[in-house]
Amino acid sequence: MLRNLCLLLFCLLPDASQAQAETTADELPTVYEYFTAGGIHSALTTLPDTFQLNGRNITIFSGAIHYFRVHPGLWRDRLRKLRAAGFNAVETYIPWNLHEPQMDRYDFGDGDEDFSPFLNVTRYVQIAQEEDLLVVIRSGPFIAAEWDYGGLPAWLLRKRDLQIRTWDPFYIERMRKYFNVLFPKLAGLQFEKGGAIIAFQIENEYAYVSAKNYTYLEEIKRLMDSNGISALKFTTDTPTVCGRCGGLEGVMMTANFGSGYQTQLNKLKSLQPDKPCWVMEFWTGWFDQWFEAHHTRTTADYLETLEGILKFPSSVNLYMFHGGTNFGFMNGATTKSSYPTLATMVTSYDYDAPLSEAGDYTSKYNATIAVIQKYDPVKTRRPEMPRQSVKERYPDTAISGLLTLDQLVAQVDSSLWVRSKEVMALELLDINNGSGQTGGFAVYRRSGLVVPASPVLKIQGRVHDLAVVMVDGVRKTAPLTSREQTKGFGYWESSDQELRLDSSSAGGNRTLDILVEGLGHGGRKGLYDGPVLLSGAAIQDWEIIPLEFKRSWASKLQGWLPAGTGAPGPALHRAILEVAGQPRDTFLDMTSWGKGVVLVNSFNVGRYFSAGPQRTCYVPAPLLRAGRNEILIFELYTPQKTIRFSDVPKL
Ligand SMILES: *[C@@H]1O[C@H](CO)[C@@H](O)[C@H](O)[C@H]1NC(C)=O
Ligand SMILES: *[C@@H]1O[C@H](CO)[C@@H](O)[C@H](O)[C@H]1NC(C)=O
Ligand SMILES: *[C@@H]1O[C@H](CO)[C@@H](O)[C@H](O)[C@H]1NC(C)=O
Ligand SMILES: *[C@@H]1O[C@H](CO)[C@@H](O)[C@H](O)[C@H]1NC(C)=O
Ligand SMILES: *[C@@H]1O[C@H](CO)[C@@H](O)[C@H](O)[C@H]1NC(C)=O
Ligand SMILES: *[C@@H]1O[C@H](CO)[C@@H](O)[C@H](O)[C@H]1NC(C)=O
Repeated sequence: MLRNLCLLLFCLLPDASQAQAETTADELPTVYEYFTAGGIHSALTTLPDTFQLNGRNITIFSGAIHYFRVHPGLWRDRLRKLRAAGFNAVETYIPWNLHEPQMDRYDFGDGDEDFSPFLNVTRYVQIAQEEDLLVVIRSGPFIAAEWDYGGLPAWLLRKRDLQIRTWDPFYIERMRKYFNVLFPKLAGLQFEKGGAIIAFQIENEYAYVSAKNYTYLEEIKRLMDSNGISALKFTTDTPTVCGRCGGLEGVMMTANFGSGYQTQLNKLKSLQPDKPCWVMEFWTGWFDQWFEAHHTRTTADYLETLEGILKFPSSVNLYMFHGGTNFGFMNGATTKSSYPTLATMVTSYDYDAPLSEAGDYTSKYNATIAVIQKYDPVKTRRPEMPRQSVKERYPDTAISGLLTLDQLVAQVDSSLWVRSKEVMALELLDINNGSGQTGGFAVYRRSGLVVPASPVLKIQGRVHDLAVVMVDGVRKTAPLTSREQTKGFGYWESSDQELRLDSSSAGGNRTLDILVEGLGHGGRKGLYDGPVLLSGAAIQDWEIIPLEFKRSWASKLQGWLPAGTGAPGPALHRAILEVAGQPRDTFLDMTSWGKGVVLVNSFNVGRYFSAGPQRTCYVPAPLLRAGRNEILIFELYTPQKTIRFSDVPKL
């Protein structure tokens, strides 16, 4: 049967003499040759037991690669590695927060945000097609994805009592505006129009939302329809959570799970007997959060479930095929009502996936090739597996300069300084053209303060999420090294915590700085629950100074002091790495440092933290250049004298 299919196809090919010959790998059609032979007449459709694309049966072998987690210079490499393993499709989420970084200011590769080069999603879809892959789009608006605020723009939080993922008029209005910009860009890229996109997801795991509003889900579908999105639409949930409760009448349901495929797929099939099965998220590994151990999943365990899914039979999307990196301040957070109430994602999104964070083949990748071969009845021509990048362990590089927090603050543009009688949430600051501060650190400063003897500082309510206290530039809070500390002063777990300041803090004309870091959005960030009190009296008249670590700012910093000088407070440390010849992929080994972020040539490669499990930060070669490279490390607690590199990740 399979052979007949191939022969049939070859008969359609122009060179008939070739078609007679034994079928060798070179003569096989590409995915596009196979599915578009004879012209494009129909999109992805469903029969009870199979998908069809352009009227031919198709099992979708898809893998997730998020373009916003991979340097654009490496998109093609990662996509080719997906295709080389036999997959015929790539799946990606689309993060609203990157594409509308400020209200009404969209960025699809043409903005001036640091992420802008990552945001030409049209280009990504086109490269996928050039690499012989179909594309599955999951545009949310909520995407979860262990991404900041589940992909929602943090400026939404400016609205008081905002309710997300339901019929909140402000939320709906903003979603409509965004989707009316996004979907027209994708409509022309659909398979039926000669493009790569075969399917679109509506929302994401809506079954988990407690206050469901199906009018909201209908509205997402309506916005797709009205913008020319005619491709197959689907929702996705774990079938056993609540059956069809995350779905929409008339819209295909797909399944998310890591194990228990019989139970999940039987349930899905019973809910939807007239549709083929599709596992939208088969969890190949898992994500990591700070203070946890690194998660892995054995290849044997992975393979057993993958084979079970395919044998069922079902189409599949590997979540993730290649995880990539949470660059910048884009890691997500999870919240719950009991301790630990907040847990935040590490910078690496390696996920223990078939392709590692740095694009290396793993045993999962290698084993997957044979499984797809076995279960895909459509034999197509695969590219050679691209060579892996060589990883470089650059030499230890001395820290050569620093800027104190005070110097950093002094170089923040005065238009970003906010003067406020009371402390307030960062998202509410009247900066960034009315969108507030949506990521990073901020200093709450009160200068000219008279500090009484035996001073006690009290933060009413909670800190969102972490505070470092300084008096006249000297740090007064201990480094955060254990999760237990997060119940104490300066962290998110408990309200109304106090800090006893030493006697050297007392006296007139003092400057109190509270440096606050938001660790991942669920709600607003900063100090805003209540006042900050000094020995019982509320402190008023603050200056709030955002430290967003944007490229445009970081690249212009000046006034570097010699290394090792300055007060023992948070500071920015600089090292110059000389790269001889072509830059190579490398990892910054932050093992001996405390907590902070690293910028490579002014691009924020993400957070590091001694709490682990992650110890190294991936630096893809395209972020480096031949010659001089500037590495900036904003360290809150314990700076070191050198910066070390590694040629292997420590996750
Ligand atoms: C297409 O799939 C259906 C359902 O599995 C099957 O009955 C049919 O034989 C398949 N057609 C071809 C040409 O393989
Ligand atoms: C995005 O990529 C497409 C396709 O390569 C290109 O035509 C377009 O100019 C790009 N957009 C931007 C803003 O660079
Ligand atoms: C959903 O929102 C619509 C529009 O406001 C409203 O009419 C409807 O009652 C809501 N449904 C539920 C279940 O809350
Ligand atoms: C996977 O296969 C490649 C190419 O055959 C090989 O270089 C690599 O060592 C293999 N990796 C693992 C982890 O098996
Ligand atoms: C600021 O927002 C307004 C209103 O949305 C817009 O007209 C203006 O172009 C924006 N300015 C910048 C610098 O983005
Ligand atoms: C307070 O300290 C600042 C700098 O720390 C100084 O410029 C200012 O003159 C001082 N004011 C008084 C009243 O001492």
